Amino acid sequence: MKSLEFLIFLGPPGSGKGTQAEILTNKLNFIHLSIGDLLRENIVNNTELGKLASKYVKSGELVPDELIIDLMDSFITELKNESNVSGIILDGFPRTINQATALENKIKQLNVNIKAVLNLDISDQEILNRLAGRGREDDKPELIKNRLKVYRNQTEPLLEFYKERSLLDTIDGDQSESDVSNAIFNILKAEVA
Ligand code: AP5
Ligand code: MG
Repeated sequence: MKSLEFLIFLGPPGSGKGTQAEILTNKLNFIHLSIGDLLRENIVNNTELGKLASKYVKSGELVPDELIIDLMDSFITELKNESNVSGIILDGFPRTINQATALENKIKQLNVNIKAVLNLDISDQEILNRLAGRGREDDKPELIKNRLKVYRNQTEPLLEFYKERSLLDTIDGDQSESDVSNAIFNILKAEVA
């Protein structure tokens, strides 16, 4: 069976997960999976998943775990059979302990491993500055506030979860894009060495 590696990006809204995942996919032979992008695409195309997910995404709440776990499961299973990919960058998954446990089970079942969990640590002020300048549908101030609250309550506990497994690396996400990506490259080099 072919071996796949996983890189996980954790961090609050606007911390640069998508930006850094794109930079890395261009350098490594990895696929970038952004659950948020996938959900927005489904909402625009009005698919069954889009219809189910829409009210959650539009209010800044998390889409129920069952839906997201199923989505992830089929994506990983499909990719496992593709011979030309070395790994997957997970941007925005897992976001709950339930999702992290489901991923852990899937990973055991497939006999693959998590290379690193990269946590982009960023100040609330910098989040507000960045998202104000972007203007996605869920970037309205009251929705940003809710996304941040949801992050603190439901996703932040994952930092401890991955720390316990010695997989967590925290990066100062307030830095410039290139300083953040240099810090990530240094961490990944150290993992390989
Ligand atoms: P998702 O799309 O993942 O949104 P998010 O986590 O809120 O994060 P963003 O995409 O806003 O930010 P990012 O960290 O990717 O930063 P980016 O690189 O864009 O999720 C959206 C919704 O989908 C959720 O609210 C939920 O409803 C649902 N969902 C998704 N995953 C789910 C899951 N697992 N379970 C359940 N529901 C789920 O950067 C932001 C901006 O800053 C950009 O304009 C960028 O150009 C700029 N920027 C980036 N880096 C820098 C830098 N270093 N310096 C200056 N500017 C920078
Ligand atoms: Mg993103």
